[in-house]
Amino acid sequence: MNGDTSVNNQTAFIEQLPKVELHLHIEGSLEPEMMFELAKRNNIELPFATPEEVKAAYQFTNLQSFLDIYYQGANVLIHEQDFYDLTWAYLLRCQQDNVIHTEIFFDPQTHTSRGIAFDTVINGIHRALKDGEEKLGISSQIIMCFLRHLDEESAFDTLFEALAHKDKIIGVGLDSSELGHPPEKFARVYSKALEEGFLTVAHAGEEGPVSNIYDSLELLKVSRIDHGVRCSDDDNLLYALANNKMPLTVCPLSNTKLKVFEKMEQHNIVDLLRRGLCVTINSDDPAYFGGYMNANFHAVAQSHEMTNQELASFTRNAIAASFINDEQKGRLLGKLNQFVSEFNH
Ligand code: HPA
Ligand code: ZN
Repeated sequence: MNGDTSVNNQTAFIEQLPKVELHLHIEGSLEPEMMFELAKRNNIELPFATPEEVKAAYQFTNLQSFLDIYYQGANVLIHEQDFYDLTWAYLLRCQQDNVIHTEIFFDPQTHTSRGIAFDTVINGIHRALKDGEEKLGISSQIIMCFLRHLDEESAFDTLFEALAHKDKIIGVGLDSSELGHPPEKFARVYSKALEEGFLTVAHAGEEGPVSNIYDSLELLKVSRIDHGVRCSDDDNLLYALANNKMPLTVCPLSNTKLKVFEKMEQHNIVDLLRRGLCVTINSDDPAYFGGYMNANFHAVAQSHEMTNQELASFTRNAIAASFINDEQKGRLLGKLNQFVSEFNH
């Protein structure tokens, strides 16, 4: 096989590979065009004249510089139908990228703090996901995130609101500004969430130190670490993560846009995979970071020499790490194995 053929072969492999996404903030899938459409529909003034101007403003220097603009964008989401339309648009992108299962985050406090009812948000998202399952065959779960820059009391209020929606929410997570807001701030909220039967995850080791990964495991009893890429600062932690098969939901394009790594060539995801960690590829906030699942896979494969089997192992890991039952995992694994075995025949 000459070089070009193998590059084309890998491009096709990535595009057709069945994928599972485990780290996606639904508010981060708000494309500038939809931002304008919703602003018009809801009579909201935007500080930008065109979607192109919005895109030009997406020049981030770190996590906080992104969060400031991301929370501003979410102001156009008002009605249940807005949350439905946002989620439906994301599912159509999933279909294009062969995402067969997705576990999405939403940030209720971003909306309740603006006077939007919790029910409005969750019902719109959930209705779209149900339609996604029925009409597109994409299965899904919902994870509710607490904003870590807000206080414990606000997180508790949010958790109590979620109790009426336990049938729709599989777990709780922790996002927003990592520096200055360590896991221990939410230890009591997580303990209550676990008691109520929610699974737990947390963003840790994105910009923050490895102690945030240790504390998420010990104090928050997480089933997955979101990001976690700073784990390579600590050999003991690397060993423990590999040994315990603790999944990391890594977001390559997010990490380069937010300067966690200067260049994709410097990203440690392939090194972590080869060290035996259960790493997965995810898009985080695709409307802000330059791409959905396929774009993230392409970015990693273009900057690191990898085999197709290694690329498939990102999906294999994501299936193992997902919050679905063994029968559902078996079905997804069957689809993956069938694709891999048929690709070269
Ligand atoms: N990190 C922290 N908070 C977030 C992120 C992220 O990558 N995306 C949306 N909220
Ligand atoms: Zn995230």
